[in-house]
Amino acid sequence: MKYENLKYEEKDGVGILTINRPDKLNALNSATIGELSAVLNESKSKGSIKALILTGAGDRAFIAGADIGELTKLGLGEGFDFSRNFQLVTLELERMNIPVIGAINGLALGGGCELALACHVRILSEKAKFGLPELGLGAIPGAGGTQRLARLIGKGRALWTMLTGDMIGAEDALQYGLGNMLVKPEELMAASLKVAGKMASKAPLAVKMTLNAVNFGSECHLDSGLAIEAAAMNVVIGSEDFKEGVSSFMEKRSPKFKGR
Ligand code: COA
Repeated sequence: MKYENLKYEEKDGVGILTINRPDKLNALNSATIGELSAVLNESKSKGSIKALILTGAGDRAFIAGADIGELTKLGLGEGFDFSRNFQLVTLELERMNIPVIGAINGLALGGGCELALACHVRILSEKAKFGLPELGLGAIPGAGGTQRLARLIGKGRALWTMLTGDMIGAEDALQYGLGNMLVKPEELMAASLKVAGKMASKAPLAVKMTLNAVNFGSECHLDSGLAIEAAAMNVVIGSEDFKEGVSSFMEKRSPKFKGR
């Protein structure tokens, strides 16, 4: 499928999805959000990749937010629909059954920050900066920012970010746990591919069950989360991949996982 606003390629079992509107700092108009959803769904149904990297084109921005020009055209009621549609795309990303790595190459503002938050892990270029500047425009973060940022870095830091509009630089982001790894800009893609390769080498069913246990378990009472974990354990323990993982360990060789 041909996309207008993003590039998608697959390399050694890893998908690389690049938001490609560099002259607009990769701002997300509704067409781009639609394409993003389409590529995620296509990749899910094809099942040809074992990890996905999300990044932005150019050397300035990951994504500088939702397209402000489009936002101003929304009327009462449409704001709700815009927000819900965008939230659903963040959920589609977060609920991928493969690891999603945000390769944060520059500014991740507004909706860009919110998409980064929906990735499972984030690798930061030294140029990465996160911000939720919506309140300065008279809007609020509407694609999960008020929820996911507080869950990831704590309520105090999240509220500080939203209420001041100040950006979080790469070093602080790493310290807050917003980033998992910090690298030089020119090393970002190589580092992301290396991490993606490592994650892609794990047993696919175990990866899927872990993502589900963490995604759903972390949102509920510990007892319920532990029950989700036990159910996930029961699925993997009977899998062919578990037998293969244990055999390969005993035989001192690399496992050949099949995802079942
Ligand atoms: N929506 C639409 N267009 C955007 C955009 C956004 N969120 N962010 C940047 N752009 C566009 C600019 O309009 C400009 O387009 P133009 O060349 O056709 O005028 C282009 O991207 C480059 O941005 P510019 O503002 O000229 O670069 P800068 O270096 O002076 O400033 C920013 C960079 C990121 C500080 C500034 O673009 C900005 O504040 N963007 C909005 C960020 C934001 O509020 N995001 C949340 C939206 S809800």
